[in-house]
Amino acid sequence: MIAAGLQVLDALAARDGGFSLEVRAFDWGSERYKREGALMPGDGIEQLRAFDAIFFGAVGAPGVPDHISLWGLRLPICQGFDRYANLRPIGILPGIEVPLAGVGPGDLDWVIVRENSEGEYAGMGGRAHRGLPEEVGTEVAVFTRTGVTRILRYAFRLAQRRPRKLLTVVTKSNAQRHGMVMWDEIALEVAEDFPDVRWDKSLVDAMTLRMVKSPQSLDTIVATNLHADILSDLAGALAGSLGVAPSGNIDPERRFPSMFEPIHGSAFDIAGKGIANSVAAFWTAAQMLDHLGETSGAARLMVAVESVCAAGILTPDIGGKATTQEVTDAVCEAIRGSNIQLSG
Ligand code: IPM
Ligand code: MG
Repeated sequence: MIAAGLQVLDALAARDGGFSLEVRAFDWGSERYKREGALMPGDGIEQLRAFDAIFFGAVGAPGVPDHISLWGLRLPICQGFDRYANLRPIGILPGIEVPLAGVGPGDLDWVIVRENSEGEYAGMGGRAHRGLPEEVGTEVAVFTRTGVTRILRYAFRLAQRRPRKLLTVVTKSNAQRHGMVMWDEIALEVAEDFPDVRWDKSLVDAMTLRMVKSPQSLDTIVATNLHADILSDLAGALAGSLGVAPSGNIDPERRFPSMFEPIHGSAFDIAGKGIANSVAAFWTAAQMLDHLGETSGAARLMVAVESVCAAGILTPDIGGKATTQEVTDAVCEAIRGSNIQLSG
């Protein structure tokens, strides 16, 4: 996927001449883990620090436990660089089969803001009395006033910049009466600074219904690390496939490199067949360009992706017969041939 993404980025750079990318590849991942016992080198974070952005592929392989690949690479990079905002835009691209009847492009145009530094992914908890009948395992979610306030402020600011100025704050404060009630209280406080943003609250279970039953009632969505993880899979499915869904792990203060990754997993069932959907990688690349200030390149890339989807050049997960390479070539071709005038 990352190779496909780099191909379209090259095509864009060649067409516009407005930017060039200096790319360095790192083979950090499951193969390295099997070979050397670690997904990345001990000084990995230091090696990444100087970069402007990271373009990150799916990690994981059969035989490598998922919690090892997560805690050995993605989480240390994200948490080490304090990228507290995970930005997951989603929408229905033209020409794609979606599961909801009567819902098409424009009816589902969301950005999910996932808290990305704490909560259920804080790594707190433990196991005791292993293997004994008394064995106990705890998984503690950690919510800090600093962490909750900054992600809510980020979400309100984002909602304010979007045309509908509409935000939904997701919690589970009926059952989880400590940290989640604190979220609700902080949301009320933060909202005072954004009088022009319309906002509401949804409990996460009710939210799944709302996403399916009235997708038009949503625009910007903010939720905890785990809730937003789950909701973003549902969002991807409602948009046709997790294979289109992008994400950016953002350090809003730009102290550290932000990291851009399609949110689909490593999909062992189709790995190596050459049919995985590269749209998520392209959308993610557009997000990365936006972050780097190359907004017209980002817009041109998305126009190219939409035109290729509309022309029915689609991988099997979204109802087509094309291979990853055919889709990638078509997007590069659309970029080269594009005479669309975009304002910077
Ligand atoms: C995601 C993924 C990851 C997560 C997995 C691969 C650990 O599901 O980015 O949504 O849970 O954060
Ligand atoms: Mg997920």
